[in-house]
Amino acid sequence: MRKTRFRRAVTAVSAMALASGFMIAAGNTANGDEASSSAAAARVDNPYEGAQLYVNEDWSRQAAASGGQAIADEPTAVWLDRIEAIDSGSAGENTMGLRDHLDAALEQGANALQMVTYNLPGRDCAALASNGQLGPEEIDKYKSEFIDPIAEILSDPKYADIRIINVVEIDSLPNLITNVGSRETATPECDVMKANGNYVKGVGYALATLGDIENVYNYIDIGHHGWIGWDDNFGPTADLLHEAATTEGATVDDVAGFAANTANYGATEEPYFSIDDSVGGKSIREGSKWVDWNRYVDELSFSQAFREEAVSAGFNSDVGVIIDTSRNGWGGSERPTGPGSTSGTADEYVDSSRVDRRIHLGNWCNQDGAGLGERPTASPAPGIDAYAWIKPPGESDGSSKEIDNDEGKGFDRMCDPTYEGNPRNQNNMSGAKADAPVSGHWFQAQFEELIENAYPPVN
Ligand code: BGC
Repeated sequence: MRKTRFRRAVTAVSAMALASGFMIAAGNTANGDEASSSAAAARVDNPYEGAQLYVNEDWSRQAAASGGQAIADEPTAVWLDRIEAIDSGSAGENTMGLRDHLDAALEQGANALQMVTYNLPGRDCAALASNGQLGPEEIDKYKSEFIDPIAEILSDPKYADIRIINVVEIDSLPNLITNVGSRETATPECDVMKANGNYVKGVGYALATLGDIENVYNYIDIGHHGWIGWDDNFGPTADLLHEAATTEGATVDDVAGFAANTANYGATEEPYFSIDDSVGGKSIREGSKWVDWNRYVDELSFSQAFREEAVSAGFNSDVGVIIDTSRNGWGGSERPTGPGSTSGTADEYVDSSRVDRRIHLGNWCNQDGAGLGERPTASPAPGIDAYAWIKPPGESDGSSKEIDNDEGKGFDRMCDPTYEGNPRNQNNMSGAKADAPVSGHWFQAQFEELIENAYPPVN
């Protein structure tokens, strides 16, 4: 039953997309099946360009049944968040396995599918909400029971015409930069993952194995501006990513680019203030607690600069960045309509100008007041392959109380609205919404607010 309403609509559009945009984009105007399959297999610089993206039928059905009919035909990513997800779907209401999604993509006439590989050993070392199923040492199991079976499915010739856009292991490598060693933000779990090398090896293996498949486009996670935007983190992250991309048989040719802001809330662009602003003769970098010496105030400027840094670190010059805009819209009544006054303090100026209404940039769980961001768009800005909805809107980031589950997920107090924080959010309130289910499960109240506070608004 899941497939009825928009499947038909999508199929009609897709026939057109396949007949025109895709083949022309591939530079082939010949007729006939042979021509179309060789055109389809050609590797492109930006897999979003001219593509018809797969609409995740699990998510779409849920969204449509939850008051989200207006957005239910937007493409969102398929999350492979544990071994079982390969066959029988990810957490919560998701029931389709990888083959089901690929087959559904073919039926939709889609020629691109977004997925997230998210199951490293010792996953989520600086938080508890998305702790996974593999222990810190289970790298062999990660390779043979997670990445290899995924590779087997993706290399089925039946799917050769689908561009597979693969976001690789979110949060993992950035955690090894900021949450280790003598830093105040360090956790023992991240120290273990740095010492045993299993994040780096796992990412390298995933890039190498999946990157061998002609139609796979790998994007490595780079956190977001409120994490990697400081000088101490920026260059070292690019170097660590390069190390991972040249490990376990991977090369930089296995990397199509980077993924920013995945499942986070950073604004794509802050329209009313800029990093170059000063208040009372002092840069806001120094004067504002919100900025606090960061080099960037939004995801677009961060992503474009990171791309350059990565190229200097040894990545190919044609890499691009995907920015997750599923929940970074920040519309609604709290959204400023213009720059604040500069006659007070830098804090007053920035706090009244910023559209990102979080209490602190380090807050990440089910943020109260957030809205849907830009609808998915290909090539929205130089260096940016797409604005994409990687985190499916409506799926929780973590439970606001302890909830028993068999998915390995813990209770992170950053998801508890009464929590007063830790060094990673400089001891601010969490800003999380109450009554949330475990991560990946449907959170109706958040979904409704995301639609309500969407920016651009949902018509
Ligand atoms: C969860 C996953 C889920 C994903 C997408 C993550 O936070 O840990 O289980 O698939 O979000 O909602």
